[in-house]
Amino acid sequence: MPDTLTVTDNRTGRTYELPVANGAVRATDLRQIRVDDNDNGLMSYDPAFLNTASCVSRVTYIDGDRGILLYRGYPIEELAEKSTFLETAYLLVHGELPTAVQEREWTHDITIHTMVHENIKRFMDGFHHDAHPMGMLLSTVGALSTFYPQATRIHDEEQRRTSIWRLIAKMPTLAAMAYRHSMGFPYVYPDNDLSYVGNFLNMMFKMVEPRYQPAPEIEHALDVLFILHADHEQNCSANAMRSVGSSEPDPYSATAAAIAALYGPLHGGANEAVLRMLERIGTRDAIPEFLAGVRAGRERLMGFGHRVYKNYDPRAKVIKRMAEQVFSVTGTTPLLDIALELEKIALEDEYFVSRKLYPNVDFYSGLIYQALNLPTDMFPVLFAIPRTAGWLSQWEEMLLDKEQRIARPRQVYLGPERRPYVAIGQR
Ligand code: SDX
Repeated sequence: MPDTLTVTDNRTGRTYELPVANGAVRATDLRQIRVDDNDNGLMSYDPAFLNTASCVSRVTYIDGDRGILLYRGYPIEELAEKSTFLETAYLLVHGELPTAVQEREWTHDITIHTMVHENIKRFMDGFHHDAHPMGMLLSTVGALSTFYPQATRIHDEEQRRTSIWRLIAKMPTLAAMAYRHSMGFPYVYPDNDLSYVGNFLNMMFKMVEPRYQPAPEIEHALDVLFILHADHEQNCSANAMRSVGSSEPDPYSATAAAIAALYGPLHGGANEAVLRMLERIGTRDAIPEFLAGVRAGRERLMGFGHRVYKNYDPRAKVIKRMAEQVFSVTGTTPLLDIALELEKIALEDEYFVSRKLYPNVDFYSGLIYQALNLPTDMFPVLFAIPRTAGWLSQWEEMLLDKEQRIARPRQVYLGPERRPYVAIGQR
């Protein structure tokens, strides 16, 4: 059988053969379907891109029904168990796991770029004491573009490579500075003898001790969380990175746009929203009333549901297991008990079962961050740090894709027809 779709336009009786490739038809093949010569041709209408592929990608594969997540073909469960975040970031950016030499070079190239220009301190100092750290991160990442004007040379591979090192390296530094500013603590310089995550913990929590020593189990837990958050195919913030990146600004500006998209409570802001929801529920006894509010449409069960996963988010499974490990070290919290009970009830509740709503990556991650003494408003920032590797992988793939051009969707216009201006006295 041919790989084509035969379409009959019943308005004209004409039939068309549309090629099918990789499970998709090209929307531009619909334009030939016209009623008459004045007709611009058919478009596909897909608000929120529920069923539209915006690109070809080789970075991440998700099977929502079977709960499968692969980074460049490697199962997330194996990477979480056997890899490190920096190695996973290399895999996402380069497409292959690094050799020992490549991993040493990659680690060196990123480690030597962890510092930021001293003027960044003045940006941070300019924020109000209770500024949300995502707002601070978004602004300072965008501001970084002004320190590296050569980053606009995005078709120069050397410049792209350096920008990728700088953004992956400086995200933890900026994140920690935002936290230190909000706490009124002095900024901590990077300690390049520590691991990527160990240095982040150093810049977050070092006080007066001569050298900060991260607790190994906490360093490991955060490294695994970073692996799990590193990429997720064409999510809202990756789409922002590609769309803004398609007009060819520098990657700092495109990354600032991706951070803005991630900030929303329906996306990366959900981990913070989960904690605030659990705190609002307060006790296990209050769960049935809360869920009644969800069924009535007055509430959302934050951390549940996903556009793609109609099964358990594979990341949530790993995070849930890790939560139990972390709590065995830090001691459990009443919020974990509420979360476990909430999940148990929701997974048996027809409202959630009928809508295929399962815990997603955000349902348990916030509980671990809280156990690691990270403040709630820092949770989306902890999502942005590792996701920078995914955003940059998608950004570079878009730039190198010969089929890609500036993103400029069409619209279905239902506004007023042409009409003459009316003087104010006649309105
Ligand atoms: C992330 O895309 C990605 O890959 C994102 C991400 C990544 O790694 O990049 O995985 C990270 O963003 C995870 C999602 C975090 N967000 C939340 O946990 C917020 C709560 N979840 C929802 O808002 C919602 O599930 C979304 C935003 C995640 C998905 O929204 P969709 O696909 O647009 O689904 P929908 O809103 O159309 O919901 C379908 C139905 C609706 O009910 P009906 O109108 O059919 O009656 O399910 C209901 C929704 O009301 N629903 C929920 C719900 N999620 C969906 N009802 C209650 N609680 C929820 N959490």
